[in-house]
Formats: sequence, C-alpha cells, structure tokens
Amino acid sequence: MHAIWSVIKIGSWAFVLSVIGASIVSLSNFGLSFLIGKITQVSIDQASAGTFDLHLMISLATYLVIALPFIIMGQTLNLVGGQFAEKRLKGKMIDHVLHQSEADIVDGHSGDMMNLLTNDAAVINDFYFQGLSHRAIGPLVAGIASLIVTFSVDIRFGIIAVIIGLTTVLTSTRYSKRIQDGYLSAREAQNSATNHVSEILTNEEFIRLYGIDHKLIAEYDQKNMDYGKKVLNAERNKHKVTGWNESFDLISKIAFLGVGIYFSFTSHFPFSKVMLLLPLQGSISYMFGNLGVSWNYILETATSATRIDDFLTTERENLRMNLPSLQSVAASSKILFDHVSFGYNRDHHILNDVTLDIDAKETVAFVGASGSGKSTLMKLLLGFYNTDSGNIYIDTQDVMQFNLPSVRSQMSYVQQEAPLFNLSIRENIKLGATNYDTVDDSAIIVAAKKAAIHDFIMTLPKGYDTQVGENAGKISGGQRQRIAIARAFMSDAPILIMDEPTASLDSESENLVQLALQNIRKEKTVLIAAHRLRTIQDADTIVVLDHGHITEKGNHRELIEREGHYFNTFQNQHN
Ligand SMILES: Nc1ncnc2c1ncn2[C@@H]1O[C@H](COP(=O)(O)OP(=O)(O)OP(=O)(O)O)[C@@H](O)[C@H]1O
Ligand SMILES: [Mg+2]
Repeated sequence: MHAIWSVIKIGSWAFVLSVIGASIVSLSNFGLSFLIGKITQVSIDQASAGTFDLHLMISLATYLVIALPFIIMGQTLNLVGGQFAEKRLKGKMIDHVLHQSEADIVDGHSGDMMNLLTNDAAVINDFYFQGLSHRAIGPLVAGIASLIVTFSVDIRFGIIAVIIGLTTVLTSTRYSKRIQDGYLSAREAQNSATNHVSEILTNEEFIRLYGIDHKLIAEYDQKNMDYGKKVLNAERNKHKVTGWNESFDLISKIAFLGVGIYFSFTSHFPFSKVMLLLPLQGSISYMFGNLGVSWNYILETATSATRIDDFLTTERENLRMNLPSLQSVAASSKILFDHVSFGYNRDHHILNDVTLDIDAKETVAFVGASGSGKSTLMKLLLGFYNTDSGNIYIDTQDVMQFNLPSVRSQMSYVQQEAPLFNLSIRENIKLGATNYDTVDDSAIIVAAKKAAIHDFIMTLPKGYDTQVGENAGKISGGQRQRIAIARAFMSDAPILIMDEPTASLDSESENLVQLALQNIRKEKTVLIAAHRLRTIQDADTIVVLDHGHITEKGNHRELIEREGHYFNTFQNQHN
C-alpha cells in the first residue's frame, strides 16, 4: 500500500489530473457502448411492432457530438497530467542527485543511479501516460458502469455477469503473480545490461588496449539474451491470460443470449433487452479479466516507485540554510583548522588533532604519502564532510555557524582531474565566474592568460568557441587542467584549493601550471596538495602529513635543513 502511495505522491496534482482525464475518456466510451446497445434494443422492438422512430438515431448523433469534445478533453488532461507528472518526477530526481550528501554519493553505485533515472523513471512515466488509463482506470470505470446498468436492467443478468467474472478472476490471478515476477526479473536483467554498457563506455580505451572487447561483447550479448528470454516468458503468461479472458467473454455472451432466449420463452422478458446488455458485457469481462493483471501492473509500477521514493527520501546534504551567510573579508581570508579530527567511519580516524593556522594570501602546500589525509583535509574545508571534533574557522568565524553555500562561495577548487562540460571553452571557463550573468569576454581572456592556456586556445580554429565535447580527444590532459584552472581564476573567492592539479601532467604542463600559480598566489589564500615537490617548492609553508598528523611544517629551506620526511622525498625525486 505504501508503495502505491509512493506512485501517487510523486505525481501529485498532475497525477490526479491524469486520473480524471482517463475517467472522462472511459465514461464517454461507456456511454457509446450503452447507446449502441439501446439503439439495437429499440430498433428490434420497433421492427417487431412495425413502427419507426428517428429519435434514438438523433440522440446517438447528438451524443457523438457532445462526447467527442469530452473524449478529446479527457485524453488531453490525461496526457498533460502525465507530462507534468513526468517533468516533476525527473526534476525531483535530478535535484536530489545533486543534493545528496557526499557520503551517499561515494557509497552509491552510479549504475544504480542511472537505472533509477532511466528505467525506473520510464516505468512510472508509462504508468502516468498510458498504463494508468489503459490498464487500470479505463477497464475499471467502464466495467463498473456497465455492471450497474446490467443490474438495473435485470438483476439476474447482473448476477450471471458477476459469477462468470469471478471465475475469470480466479483463472487470471493464477498467472498474474507469475507475470509480475517475470517482468521484475526481466527488469533486473535489463538493469544489469545497462550497467554493463555504462562500464564499457567509461572504460573503452582500456578495453581496446587489452583487447577484451570480444569478451565484453559476448557478456553483453548474454545479458541481452537473458533479458529477452525473461520478457518472452512474462509475455507468454500474459498471452495465456488474454486467451482465457477472450474465451470467458465469448462464454458470457453466449450465456446472455441463451438465458435471454430462455427467459423470453418462459416469462414475459423482452429479448431485445439482451441486445442492450451484450455490448456492455464486453466491458464487464474485460474488467474482471484484467483485475489480476491490472493489480499486478500497479504493483510492478509500485516496485519502481518504491525504489524512486526510497531514493528521494534519503537524507539530503544539510546546507544549514537557516543560518546566516558567511561574509568573509576578501582581503584577509585566514583559515584555522583547530584540533580537527575526522574519520569516514567512527572507528577509524583519518585526521588526528590537526591544528593549522593559515594566513591571508599565504600559499600552503600539503605533502605526504598517499592516504595520509591531504584530500580529506580539503574536503572538510569545502564542507563535503563535517569534522568529528574540532572546528574550522575562516576569518576567525566558525564555518559551522553559517550556511554552506556561503562558506563554499569563499573557495574555488581544482581537482586532480578537473571536469570539463560539453560546452564551448568560453562557457567552461565562465562557469567559475562569481558574477556569471554579467561577466564579459575580457575577464575570460585575463583568466585564461593567468592560467597559461590563452595561447593554446588561440591556436584552435574556433578559439574560445571550440566545443569541448566534439574535441575531447584534441585537448590534452594538461590543457584541460589549465582550462579548469582558468575557470577557478574566474571566481572572486578569496581561497583557492588545488588537489594535485599537476599529478597527471608532463613537466612542461607542470611548469605552465606552476606559472599560473605564481600569477594568482598574490591575490588569494592558496591550499595545494602535490606529490611532486617541484610544483610546491616555493610555497610559503609546506605541511607534511603522516597518517593524519602534521609531522613537519616550514618553508622549503627549513624543511630541507630538518632532514626529515620532506628532505628524504626531495632527495628521492631529484636523484
Ligand atoms: N569516501 C571515503 N570513505 C572511506 N574512506 C575514505 C574515503 N575517502 C578516502 N578515504 C580514506 O581516507 C584516507 C585518506 O585519504 P585521502 O584521500 O585524504 O588521502 P590523500 O593524502 O589525499 O592521498 P593521495 O595522495 O593518494 O591523494 C585513505 O586511507 C583513504 O582510503
Ligand atoms: Mg588526495
């Protein structure tokens, strides 16, 4: 029940609109069957009495004229409702994807998310558009209306219709569970195939290099075959049900005729009434025959809806929007990590009692073995995680006392492999701008020059208008990275965080990035993590992290003189 509520909840008012639309359509269709029956009945009566009356023909024509706009309106409501429900659903889902907590994003499988956004969403959309009206509302509304008319014409025919109908339900429900299970396992097979494709797409270079394409294609074939088999199986059961239902429809029509003839001989029952009931009988058998299938269809939809609802109700990132905005003084962006401890799990600490005072416009470099906690420290400052104990201050203000977007707006961030979007280079750089809507080209060019990427962009035939997506292969790792750095330079944020910006670069690109850093360090407080010490050699302060502790701190000269971890690493890298 909860699952069904989920379907309705997600669609909200748009769902109600589409239900009303579907009901209008089926009521109008019912009216049509009723009138046809009525005309047949009256015609027979008139023919046997030798009279002729145009009245009914005229009322049929009138009904058609009146019903047609209703049918169109109903269908439009159904469609518009479905469309809005779909839009709402997709909007809510993508919004939630972008507002999950960092921990949920890291823990989740991106393939599962894709399935949720594509396959499960498609099931719900089909339900809002077609499924709901064709498989649930339509049969039910027309069936119940027909049953009411049948009972009111002659209670005995109503009873016959219900008895035959219930027999149909008994046989069809035998299959309905199998049909549902069949579709469910088909969907799982489909998800598995989708995951496989997304894995192939993300790893295609590796696949070609290692020549494992045949193996992966064979696996994909196998998965599709499996999917096909499961669909076929579910469809086969569904066709059995359809077959049964059609037989029962025929049986009940014959029963109506037979009983009608019997009644007209034994009592004064006018046989023409049977002609009124026959067209309605179709809707009644269809309703009963589909009860099981419709119910299971709703359950199947509900399975997807539950998955989506579970996802939509996972905890969102706490942006602390009830708190005021942090207004840092750009001229003095000091940072203080005050006895900060943190672990991704409670029992395993990654950072232990880290205290670090960073001055405004100081450039601080973080070095240390892989896994020592450099990125983690940066993620805490970026507000992706909260500390377990200790506080982080920007300009002597505890960041936890302010809303997160305002804290984040103090920083720009360049990752090891900074993402470029499928936009022009100009747009990609512009994305970082604080004043996005008013920023002009000259500012973009200034940033690109500072990031030492302007000259390269000018060598491209389309310059700043080059589309990144089409030219992904023509822009090297180092160039991408410098475009991303230009993007970070577009921001007015007083703090720049760079997590191994040069890790994947050759030494020439590294030199250019270093140059870029020289261009910006006078303007901002810079935190930079790097393995290659050459990149950070002239930082104001170098911090050595070891298992979440600060073990050394000082400038290059001081740390060399100390002859500790930094000295050893430096020796290794330069011999
Ligand atoms: N999301 C996460 N969940 C659980 N553990 C994590 C997560 N991210 C990182 N870790 C662990 O935290 C520790 C510190 O990781 P972190 O990424 O901060 O190291 P790092 O110093 O940046 O290393 P590298 O130089 O390799 O980038 C590592 O042991 C890592 O396995
Ligand atoms: Mg790291």
